[in-house]
Amino acid sequence: MAEEALSLLAIRPDGVYVDSTAGLGGHTGLIAQRLTTGVVIANDRDAESLELARAATAQWAGRIRYCQGTFSQLRSTIEAEGFQKVDGLLADLGVSRFQLAEAPHRGFSFLTDGPLDMRMSQDTGITAADLVNYTAEKALADLIFQLGEERGSRKIARAIVRARPIKSTLHLADVVSRAVFRTGRLHPATKTFMALRMAVNDEPGELDRLLNVGPDLLRQGGRMVVISFMSSEDRKVKERFRSLGREGRAEILTKHPLQPSEQEISHNPPSRSAKLRAVMINGVSE
Ligand SMILES: C[S@@+](CC[C@H](N)C(=O)[O-])C[C@H]1O[C@@H](n2cnc3c(N)ncnc32)[C@H](O)[C@@H]1O
Repeated sequence: MAEEALSLLAIRPDGVYVDSTAGLGGHTGLIAQRLTTGVVIANDRDAESLELARAATAQWAGRIRYCQGTFSQLRSTIEAEGFQKVDGLLADLGVSRFQLAEAPHRGFSFLTDGPLDMRMSQDTGITAADLVNYTAEKALADLIFQLGEERGSRKIARAIVRARPIKSTLHLADVVSRAVFRTGRLHPATKTFMALRMAVNDEPGELDRLLNVGPDLLRQGGRMVVISFMSSEDRKVKERFRSLGREGRAEILTKHPLQPSEQEISHNPPSRSAKLRAVMINGVSE
């Protein structure tokens, strides 16, 4: 859905844009290509990813400012780059292909062995190992249910507590796989790993802060585009955008969320649950 995201951002060659989740630099590069005198702030909380984004977008580096930071820090990041307001803000939530599939040392994947870490930035307090080994069973079950939408959460939490100490990603994946049956195409540990990752990185709190501050950072006529992968995240985006619409602060550009085509899904299966929503801040563009 990169093209849809780009077209909803309505890039002006002299505009200032924020790619708040630069990841591997895919969207950052697409924005930068369309700029002349404009600038794109490539932000990611993950220093390792930001270096990959820097390498992937080197040919447009003159138009890109690379910044490490979280959504919570976005206002100060933008101000530190000398801007008060921007023309567009993009957020492509979740983890990148690199974090999931190419960085076993980061502990996001249940397919390759690694430490139970899952921190997107090394300054985050707790790791996934802390959560699985020290959280009380009931709280662990609630976390897996609420963040991972995993119906087998109680069985999983019980199995985890019995198997402690859990030492690595494959150890955890094995414990979870024995506790619940595989349903459909998902690996049985998918939702548990997602829930732990979301908790370690306070992803729900980060999204709340992004949705709160994002519209204030945009000029009149500026656009905010959010791509999410979890229904709980899409619900929050939908509600925030609707309330901006009711307050007369923004116009909703996507009456229904955009979803990837069958062709895109077959090419990139993890994109199957992606939903894209966009708003434009009301008023005449400055
Ligand atoms: C789906 S990937 C983005 C991929 C990117 N759009 C591309 O084209 O390569 C999501 C990225 O967002 C980053 N991220 C997640 N939560 C964040 C937050 N709260 N603040 C800043 N970056 C965040 C992750 O580190 C990850 O690199």
